[in-house]
Amino acid sequence: MSIKTIDFYFFSGSGNTYLVVKEMADLFKEEGMEVNLFRIENVNPEDFDSSHTIGIGFPVAAQSTYKFIWDFFEKLPDAQGTEIFMVDTLAQISGGLVGPMKKLLQKRGYKTIGSKEIKMPGNWFPGEINETKNKELISGGLKEAREYAKSLIDGQAEWKSQSFFSDLICSVSRSGFAWNFFAKMGKKFQVDRDKCKQCNICIKLCPIGNIEMNDYPEFLGKCQQCMRCISLCPTEAIYMKGKNSDIYRAVKAGELLKI
Ligand SMILES: Cc1cc2nc3c(=O)[nH]c(=O)nc-3n(C[C@H](O)[C@H](O)[C@H](O)COP(=O)(O)O)c2cc1C
Repeated sequence: MSIKTIDFYFFSGSGNTYLVVKEMADLFKEEGMEVNLFRIENVNPEDFDSSHTIGIGFPVAAQSTYKFIWDFFEKLPDAQGTEIFMVDTLAQISGGLVGPMKKLLQKRGYKTIGSKEIKMPGNWFPGEINETKNKELISGGLKEAREYAKSLIDGQAEWKSQSFFSDLICSVSRSGFAWNFFAKMGKKFQVDRDKCKQCNICIKLCPIGNIEMNDYPEFLGKCQQCMRCISLCPTEAIYMKGKNSDIYRAVKAGELLKI
């Protein structure tokens, strides 16, 4: 990388992507670079500083990523060769979203210097959680994150193009179908009034303003299932009716909210 200041924009539902982004940021800092972390939901993409190298990090969802994340990248200002790299985290497979993301960014004038997909524990109603397996996955994922960051510094990272099928999968994923399905499921989110402390943290956490406080939290019907409210509620008061599952979280709400 030629530029020494990195603005790293990320979204993380249950904390996996945050851990990966933090690991990479720590390595960049050890190598003398300045790194600024931003939560995507707090940023106007038009305020991007094109004199800095840009990092982007987000989870895979429905074989691509969340609609609000695509919407964010669609609004990026045009650039003239600003370097950009991406990392995503996933539980299994992504449908090759790095290909369509590369096209979008190149069309806007960004220089795509590296992409990486890193396996981490699944966070979508994982059922009974195996803590030992999850710890192994996280430590493997963080090792990959450091190696990827080193390859970016050395100029060895790549952003491969994907097949025609990745464009197809991505366009299906970005269509209304998946998001209407998730919104429908989100209507089954419930609050356990014995556990809820009416602390408003779920409202601060929701990236799309889908939760309103009316004595107790209420869901407005546009949920994209990022899992933040369920994963990070400090008292585990939010659940989905009919889904019996342990709750997965890689960090606590306070750590994410302080960024
Ligand atoms: C609604 C939803 C859809 C998901 N879809 C996929 C998927 O298509 N492929 C996959 O490998 N993982 C999928 N996952 C798993 C997440 O990508 C994975 O656990 C990720 O590391 C979560 O990162 P986060 O904690 O930063 O949100 C999905 C998770 C959710 C909540």
